[in-house]
Amino acid sequence: MTLPVDMSTTLANAWFPTPIFTASGCASSGKELSQFFALKDVGAIVTKSVMTKPRHGRPTPRMAETPSGMLNSIGLQGPGIDAFLANDLPWLLEQKARVVVSIAGETIEEYSTLARKIRSASGISALEVNISCPNVENRGLVFACDPDASRRVIDGVRKTIGGELPIIAKLSPDVTNLPEIAKGVVDAGADALALINTVLGMVINLETMKPHLGGKTGGLSGPAIKPIAVRAIYQVHAALPHVPILGMGGVSSGRDALELILAGASAISVGTASFGNPTALITIQNELRELLAARGFATMQQAVGYAHRDETQ
Ligand SMILES: Cc1cc2nc3c(=O)[nH]c(=O)nc-3n(C[C@H](O)[C@H](O)[C@H](O)COP(=O)(O)O)c2cc1C
Repeated sequence: MTLPVDMSTTLANAWFPTPIFTASGCASSGKELSQFFALKDVGAIVTKSVMTKPRHGRPTPRMAETPSGMLNSIGLQGPGIDAFLANDLPWLLEQKARVVVSIAGETIEEYSTLARKIRSASGISALEVNISCPNVENRGLVFACDPDASRRVIDGVRKTIGGELPIIAKLSPDVTNLPEIAKGVVDAGADALALINTVLGMVINLETMKPHLGGKTGGLSGPAIKPIAVRAIYQVHAALPHVPILGMGGVSSGRDALELILAGASAISVGTASFGNPTALITIQNELRELLAARGFATMQQAVGYAHRDETQ
């Protein structure tokens, strides 16, 4: 008989009973998933990235199936921060879910405005700052691909939000030196990192012989990007071993989740897998518990970064 595993985890000063979270943008504010399981039974609900104003997103079509994954160009459609704080957040807290609010802006000022509005809300476990979207002030360059812009966003959010709420900076793998970007945002005030956002891709439609997505390019997610996520998490954990990582990218089984944890993730977000199977988070959580027990781990946290150990010592 295997002993029970303590699945609890922390991201900076936020505590979660289990390490399996939703991924931003893949479960909206959790309502659809609540038909399938109690939201308090997973580690946290990470909301779709909220912006200051309601948005319709990018032109259709916005999704394409690809081998082992999907390409999306939703373009941060959503109700805007005021409607989110008035409706979605209270509903999530009523469900006793732990809530990680994801924010996104087109300018550095927009992130600070969002942080100012969130400062007055209570019950939030952490703030995920999605800097993997284009900075309109800088000719559309993605914030997270520019070390200086990344730092300035996080610095503005940290100064506005104060010291208590953990800030998780969500980074893009589409850069040459990911540990350098990671160090920059940690120095600017991020307590944890979310790795990885989608990878930029494109699909050409052979009938129209033009790019299939209305927005031309899109974000690739799902099993196809898991090795990129494992590499990114491993590299960043090696460079910054004390900075907690919320890992994601292609997790659709307990085995996938364990791989990201061994690379250095303290918690896991599940995105694309929930589209095909709305109970994926619960299955992954149960499988992960079994896999940890079978490998003799008494706590999930003992497995974090285990792939980095030096057996010669
Ligand atoms: C349809 C869709 C919408 C997404 N929207 C967001 C978003 O609003 N904010 C964000 O930070 N990431 C967003 N993502 C990225 C996911 O949170 C996640 O980083 C990525 O999909 C990799 O995980 P997965 O392979 O488990 O889906 C979105 C992904 C998908 C597929």
